[in-house]
Amino acid sequence: MLMDNDKNYILGIETSCDETAAAVVDSGRYLLSNMIASQIDVHTLYGGVVPEIASREHLKTIVPVVDQALKEAGITADELSAVAVTVGPGLVGALLVGVSFAKSYAAAIGKALVPVHHIEGHITSVYLSDKEIEPPFLCLVVSGGHSHLVAVEDCSKFRIIAKTRDDAPGEAFDKVARVLGLGYPGGPLIDKAAQGGDRKAFTLPQPRIADSLDFSFSGLKTAAIQQLDRFKRQAKKQDIPWTDLCSVADFAATFQEAVAKTLVSHLRDAVEQTSYKTIALAGGVSANSRLREMAGELSVEKGLKLVVPQMSLCTDNAAMVASAGYYAWKKGRLAGAEQDATSVLDLERFTQS
Ligand code: KG4
Ligand code: ZN
Repeated sequence: MLMDNDKNYILGIETSCDETAAAVVDSGRYLLSNMIASQIDVHTLYGGVVPEIASREHLKTIVPVVDQALKEAGITADELSAVAVTVGPGLVGALLVGVSFAKSYAAAIGKALVPVHHIEGHITSVYLSDKEIEPPFLCLVVSGGHSHLVAVEDCSKFRIIAKTRDDAPGEAFDKVARVLGLGYPGGPLIDKAAQGGDRKAFTLPQPRIADSLDFSFSGLKTAAIQQLDRFKRQAKKQDIPWTDLCSVADFAATFQEAVAKTLVSHLRDAVEQTSYKTIALAGGVSANSRLREMAGELSVEKGLKLVVPQMSLCTDNAAMVASAGYYAWKKGRLAGAEQDATSVLDLERFTQS
């Protein structure tokens, strides 16, 4: 039986994409350590994540990252209650490194193994930023691979209200940043370039699917890339740099505005169609300054509580996995040696099982 004042240290492990991360969280809410070995420098050379390289990098760093997470937390493996690991969705070769490590580690130290869904982890990051927040609430989860509006019914029970029918917003940020010549990962670079840019300098569509809260970003992404290609062709004809025809700051600001406005319009409709008093943002794209600002305005207008994770908890990290692992462990969601890594994993079905 768990007592409120009990310590429940969970080790979280996350290797679903290009971050090798390990963290220790107490009772789902108190962060003791949060280690991340980023592979950005390696993947930057290729302009995006190379799955094979990601797996190799995880293999190199997983042991020191886990050691460091325990050291920083000031605890030994014996003091852990469980080991939580992201089992999907993500790059299967990358996930396999974390899952295989977690399985052997949990078995070696004689602790429970808790499988965690990556999106569940992102949602749970809000508990680390706001110790008071309790479900039910509405969460907009936006990242490089996902775009979901989720009704959080309890700490590990979720109902998907809407999701993307094609690209995720982070993917659109990354592709457009590449064409703008800003580099990888595109989201933070567009955010930075957009500071001081004119949000109305260009015309870009704000996609909405009729009679649905589902998202679609491929049209906006393609429209932005086609517009940039036109500037580049025209500049070539005139033998001038394309940036003479198109300010990078203005284009970044216009694109960012279109994405943020689209996301917030879905959030607004979801708020109006439901009765939630609290809304939250999560996932890598929730680090976006304009999205945070516009979500803030929406919450004031509607009289809602808004929770946005601190920057370091928006993008992939293992603290969110440890936190999600705590709630799943309390519910008795455990895995054994048969646990696999899965590239595609349904959030509702996974968390119901
Ligand atoms: O959650 P995350 O680390 O990984 C996935 O689960 O996909 O999200 C990474 C994504 C990348 O596409 C990155 O460009 C985007 O989050 N991102 C941002 C910002 N910071 C990270 N997008 C827009 N603005 C930002 N400030
Ligand atoms: Zn993520």
